[in-house]
Amino acid sequence: MTTLGTDTSSHAIHVELGARTYTIVIRRNLVQDLGEELKRLRCAGKVGVVTDRNLAKHYLKQVTRRVKAAGYTVVPIVLPPGERTKTLLSIARVIDALVEARFERSSTLLALGGGVIGDITGFAAAIYQRGIPFVQVPTSLVAQVDSSVGGKTGVDHPKGKNLIGAFNQPRAVFIDPVMLATLPTREWVAGLAEVIKYGVIADETFFEYLERNIGSIGNLTDEAVAHIVKRSCEIKAQVVAEDEREADRRRILNFGHTIGHALESLGGYRGFIHGEAVAIGMVYEADLARHLGYCGEDVVTRVRALVKAAGLPVRLPRVTFNDLWGAMQQDKKVSAGTLYCVVPERIGVVRIVPLKKDETRAWFQAVRARDTSGWKPARSVRRGR
Ligand SMILES: NC(=O)c1ccc[n+]([C@@H]2O[C@H](COP(=O)([O-])OP(=O)(O)OC[C@H]3O[C@@H](n4cnc5c(N)ncnc54)[C@H](O)[C@@H]3O)[C@@H](O)[C@H]2O)c1
Ligand SMILES: [Zn+2]
Repeated sequence: MTTLGTDTSSHAIHVELGARTYTIVIRRNLVQDLGEELKRLRCAGKVGVVTDRNLAKHYLKQVTRRVKAAGYTVVPIVLPPGERTKTLLSIARVIDALVEARFERSSTLLALGGGVIGDITGFAAAIYQRGIPFVQVPTSLVAQVDSSVGGKTGVDHPKGKNLIGAFNQPRAVFIDPVMLATLPTREWVAGLAEVIKYGVIADETFFEYLERNIGSIGNLTDEAVAHIVKRSCEIKAQVVAEDEREADRRRILNFGHTIGHALESLGGYRGFIHGEAVAIGMVYEADLARHLGYCGEDVVTRVRALVKAAGLPVRLPRVTFNDLWGAMQQDKKVSAGTLYCVVPERIGVVRIVPLKKDETRAWFQAVRARDTSGWKPARSVRRGR
């Protein structure tokens, strides 16, 4: 156990993608060195800092000062916060700002924010002048452990999430865990769903680490937070390096997301936030796996217990089978009319299986007796990081 604020260690994780290889740097107070880090990457000229109003309030002044001090011209581009900003209109706004400020091919975009800002910035960088460099400075737990790594960028269409986008790898990912201090608790907890996911899909030791530590999640040491972020990034980097464009192996990252995305879309993106929907998805996809004979009850029990201990919801809301199945069909994981789902065989090992409607309905009817829980999202701001 260490005292808060003393961990100065720096971790570098390489995402091995040939010519597009890049480094994820994890270091407390890294945000103070952003200008120097950009110089090290040989970024030239102008830097467009894309962020949202919440982040601007906390960090824009500091980031602008640090980047300017390294000799760059900084152009801030501030968008409204939230998923509803992830539209083509926001892309147009970013592009307008770049044209206005005469950004060139060699100019750089910097995404300062959560997954929404990262996805928008990466896509704008992919299409402005057919592609300019960008770096990720993820500020939410979801962004630090998931969305900033792997090069999926894009925006939503009114008919579906992430329907418009491009694969575009950043030049680097700069993670400063200190930034999580201002993250609202509900967002922090939602990010833990993706962290738990990595344990289930790839690393039983990590899952056990979470089982031992997640109960005291509000009091995690700096080392524990750094470990969680680092191990999650390592797993994601490894999976992405094996299958950059999601031909096969990368699909394991979708554990919990077949049901999770369906719940999100049934809620019109206003009910559960992403991690909460994924949490329920993980519990029920594990339960479905047990029903179909891929794993034992012990796996379901452990997944449910860990999700619950993290403060995430574990019960399916009141949906009908037809609504759920219909929403699951909208998923990008449907291929040639067949819906695929990631199922655990044991903790740390998963496989991808096709789902049949009649089998899934039989499972759904068996679990329907379970009622909705009295779960309520945490609303305060997480302090002490
Ligand atoms: N590209 C990918 O591979 C990938 C992977 C996972 C998720 N995503 C996408 O990421 C998005 C979800 O990301 P998210 O959960 O970060 O959402 P988000 O970007 O909306 O951030 C959540 C909220 O937290 C606020 N916030 C973020 N960091 C903060 C900080 N340090 N202090 C105070 N407030 C802070 C934001 O302003 C926002 O209100 C979704 O659109 C999802 O599709 C993409
Ligand atoms: Zn997710």
